[in-house]
Amino acid sequence: MKKIDYPNTAIYINKSFVNFFDCVDNIKKDTVFYFVDENILGLYKSLFNNFHNIISIPSGEETKSIDYINNIIKKLIELGANRKTFIIGVGGGVTCDVAGFVASIFMRGVNFGFVPTTLLAMTDASFGGKNGINFNNIKNVLGVINEPDFVFIDYSFLKTLTHQEYLNGFAEIIKHACISSSDLFYDLEKNADNYFKIIENPGYSNFNKLHNMLCDSIKIKLDIVSSDRYENGKRKSLNYGHTFGHAIEAEYGIPHGSAISLGIVFSNILSNKLGFLNEDRLIRVNNLLEKYNLPVDVSMYEKKYLIKWIERDKKSSDKNIDFVLLKDIGISFVKPLSIQKIIDG
Ligand SMILES: NC(=O)c1ccc[n+]([C@@H]2O[C@H](COP(=O)([O-])OP(=O)(O)OC[C@H]3O[C@@H](n4cnc5c(N)ncnc54)[C@H](O)[C@@H]3O)[C@@H](O)[C@H]2O)c1
Repeated sequence: MKKIDYPNTAIYINKSFVNFFDCVDNIKKDTVFYFVDENILGLYKSLFNNFHNIISIPSGEETKSIDYINNIIKKLIELGANRKTFIIGVGGGVTCDVAGFVASIFMRGVNFGFVPTTLLAMTDASFGGKNGINFNNIKNVLGVINEPDFVFIDYSFLKTLTHQEYLNGFAEIIKHACISSSDLFYDLEKNADNYFKIIENPGYSNFNKLHNMLCDSIKIKLDIVSSDRYENGKRKSLNYGHTFGHAIEAEYGIPHGSAISLGIVFSNILSNKLGFLNEDRLIRVNNLLEKYNLPVDVSMYEKKYLIKWIERDKKSSDKNIDFVLLKDIGISFVKPLSIQKIIDG
């Protein structure tokens, strides 16, 4: 079994939430306020029976808003939260972002940790210290970089995850493989059928089969963020597929994982046209995305409708976009490109 050591955050992986307080160090139960995704509260009610100070976090991107943050802070104050409060977010990326953001500003910052319950949050959103909320329809434009004290992963939450939420997670895992690890890419190719069986029947699956692959994916993210906490260089590679992906998600309203998959395809076409990525590699990535039921046909997504979103994207600096390109599977780099070049490519 792989293990992950990371100096800034205690990582508990493949543990049971039932034994949470036996596993984690230095957290006093009576100081904890739980921010729990509303669906998790509904599905796993009994897990929270003996817990006090639970704040239910509505499902959906709208929750990551200033208005909602106001409500939460009012609730925290009403419930008597103070400087010693420890906030634990239990849910997907939305809940983790909200919990991390509120914990970072409440009383000038209180301790916090995450119990991610979606595949995407387990492999991506709960790591790296970005805690963002949306403003004026711009995603994650307000936020702080502040790493959680712990991330506690209990795979059994995955048994109730929807098919689409699995695909959203796998899109980010494939992203990690493309930018940084041909080994992980190969694993995803070789074991696609096994992993897909889990997605198709999560209620009866043995999630230990995902363990090594998930650890590899998490390590990639942690290696990147620890070398470039404030996104001045290498960390930008995590935006691979996201320049077009976010634009497609916003313009066409399709699920995040599907949009990122299409964003990866757009990015690879550009990498190929600019002479960096061989066509056979491009096809190999497309084949992998398709194995995970992710879309690769970009023909109906017109770039002219995407420009406005790409221009608004927070990753834009001046007129150029820091665009993530591939040289090979597992080898990425960032190149500032004009919008025109991106669109013409
Ligand atoms: N901070 C970061 O570094 C970072 C990185 C990636 C994504 N994000 C953010 O994460 C968010 C997306 O996260 P997400 O994909 O986890 O979505 P999410 O948090 O919206 O959860 C998706 C849905 O699954 C439900 N759900 C959660 N766990 C469940 C479970 N175990 N069983 C059944 N249903 C469950 C939720 O109620 C919700 O309806 C976005 O807002 C994105 O911006 C943040």
